[in-house]
Amino acid sequence: MQTYEKLLLENKAWAREKIEDDPEFFKRLSDLQTPEFLWIGCSDSRVPANEITGTQPGEIFVHRNIANMVVHTDTNLLSVLEYAVKHLEVKHIIVCGHYGCGGVKAAMSNNDYNQVLNMWLRNIKDVYRLHFTELDAIKDEEARLNRLTELNVMEQVIHLAKTSIVQRAWKKRQAPDLHGWVYGLKDGLINPVFEMKANTAIDPLYEYHDL
Ligand code: CO
Repeated sequence: MQTYEKLLLENKAWAREKIEDDPEFFKRLSDLQTPEFLWIGCSDSRVPANEITGTQPGEIFVHRNIANMVVHTDTNLLSVLEYAVKHLEVKHIIVCGHYGCGGVKAAMSNNDYNQVLNMWLRNIKDVYRLHFTELDAIKDEEARLNRLTELNVMEQVIHLAKTSIVQRAWKKRQAPDLHGWVYGLKDGLINPVFEMKANTAIDPLYEYHDL
């Protein structure tokens, strides 16, 4: 059997199990999705949103990219954000990074990863530049990468708050709250590192007053 065929076989077994546990499971989900959470995570195969949070299909709306970035020109991310915030009216947005992130590590190297990846990783180098005083003072390389991973998550949460999408929702319905988390590959535990409740003050430069 080919490896991909095993996936299809496992899928049949999974669907059967779900129906055995709850005969209405698929019917209910096919009618409606009302997730409370938007998850912006790393594409890394070791950080599956549902599995590490013990959630089921229908509970988390998910966007993943390399190093869980919120890039303000990324129409893919912005479409997901707008749909989740405006139409699904999620109550929480979670940016979840992870210690040992290959994207963060690559951004800290001086390697040329060719243009497209270089462009993407530039966003992480910019986070380093914002926090270089704190980061340069950390001598241990792993500790420095870990701290950059935390600061990166924090900056991506702040990027969310800079969007008119989030600011409009804050004004209209006092939600969503924004959370920055970092998952540990070594212990499976999530470390909450940063939070912005709805209507937290941001740099006035990025505020929209005529929403
Ligand atoms: Co990663």
